[in-house]
Amino acid sequence: MVARHDGPVEITLSEGPGGLTVKFGTEGEREFTWRWIKDHGEDPQSVDRETGQRLVDTFAIHPNLQASDARVEGANLVVEWADGAPATSVAIDTLAQASGVFTAPDERQLWTAVTAPDPVPVAFAELARSDETLGQALGHLLRDGFTVVDGLPNDLDSTRALIDRLGGVRNSVFGDIWSVVSGSGQHADSAYASIGLEPHTDGTYSYEGPGFQVLHFTQTGDSGGESELVDGMAVCQQLRELNPAYVKTLATVEVPARYVEPGVELVARRPALRFNHLGRFSQISFNNYDRTPLWLPPAEMDAFYEAYLALHELVMQPSNRFVRRLDEGEALIFDNWRLLHGRTAFTGERRFQGGYLNQEDVQSRRLTLGRAKAG
Ligand SMILES: [Fe+2]
Repeated sequence: MVARHDGPVEITLSEGPGGLTVKFGTEGEREFTWRWIKDHGEDPQSVDRETGQRLVDTFAIHPNLQASDARVEGANLVVEWADGAPATSVAIDTLAQASGVFTAPDERQLWTAVTAPDPVPVAFAELARSDETLGQALGHLLRDGFTVVDGLPNDLDSTRALIDRLGGVRNSVFGDIWSVVSGSGQHADSAYASIGLEPHTDGTYSYEGPGFQVLHFTQTGDSGGESELVDGMAVCQQLRELNPAYVKTLATVEVPARYVEPGVELVARRPALRFNHLGRFSQISFNNYDRTPLWLPPAEMDAFYEAYLALHELVMQPSNRFVRRLDEGEALIFDNWRLLHGRTAFTGERRFQGGYLNQEDVQSRRLTLGRAKAG
C-alpha cells in the first residue's frame, strides 16, 4: 500500500523477462525495464543524498540486465540484481510521477474579466518580514498568475528588495532593475512611450522569455494608464473550444521576433503556445509589436493567420481583460508565461521601475518555503 494525496493505493508487481509491470491500484499501470529501474535508483549508491545528483553510471548498465527479485518495501520498490550488484531502491511515487500515473493537480485557476480576483494588496513590510505572508503571496501569484504588493517606498532599493524576496532578479538588455519614465527616450521600445499598449507578453525575442515581471509604480500620470491583464491560459482554452486546429497551429509554428536598439539585436523564435510533457498549458508568447517576417507556403500561412487572428480577437475581448489602475507605492507582479499585460494610453508623467524573474527562481522560492498554501 502506498498513500497518495487522495488515499491508499495497492501496488501490484508482475515480472517479465525484460522488466517489471507496476499496477498502481486503479490509477493505471506502467512497464519499466530493468535498465530504467537501475538508472533511476534513489538509494545512497545511486544518488547523492545531499544534491540528489545521479551517481549511477548510466552508460555502464548492461542493456539486458536481469533481476533476481523485485518487491515493495514500504513506499519503495526494491530490486535485487542477478549479477550480485547492490540492490536498487526507487520510491513508488517516483515511478508514478515519472510515468505520469500520479500527477500533481494543476493549481492554476483560470479567470476572465468577470471572475478575475481583485487582489487585496499585500503590505511590502509584511512580505519582507514573514515567510508565511510570502508563501501566501506566491500561492496567489501561481494560482491566479498575478498579485499586488503595496507600501513600497519610492526608491530602487525597495524594488530590488521585493524582487530578491520573490526569487531574485534576471538580467536583460534593460539592466537588472529598470526605471521607466514615459516619453524619456531611454529605449526605443514602445513601453517607453505614452500610447496605449495592447496586451502582450515580454521577451518574445528571447529563447527563454522572462518568467515573471514586477512593475513598481512610483508616479501614475494624470489620467489613463490603467494596467490590463489577460489570462493567456484561459484564452488558450477558449481558442481550443472555438477550434482545436487553431491551438495545434499556434503550438507548431515558430514565430520570430526581434528587439533592436543601438548596439543590441536580439532575435529568437518560438510557438505562440507551448504545452508541457503532460499536455498542460505551459507558455503563451504573443507580441505583435516585436514580430518579424515569417514565411510559410500560402495554405499554411493562411492557417496561421486565421489562428493568430482568432487568438488576438480573444485577447482583445473586454470580457477577457482585467483592468486595474495601480497607485503609487504599489507593485504588480505577474507570470509573463501565462498572462498578457497591456496599458491604456495616458497623459502626464508616468514612472515605474521593475525587473524580470526566471520561472524556476520563483518556483524555487515557493518550494523551499515548504509549499505554503495559498490563503
Ligand atoms: Fe510589456
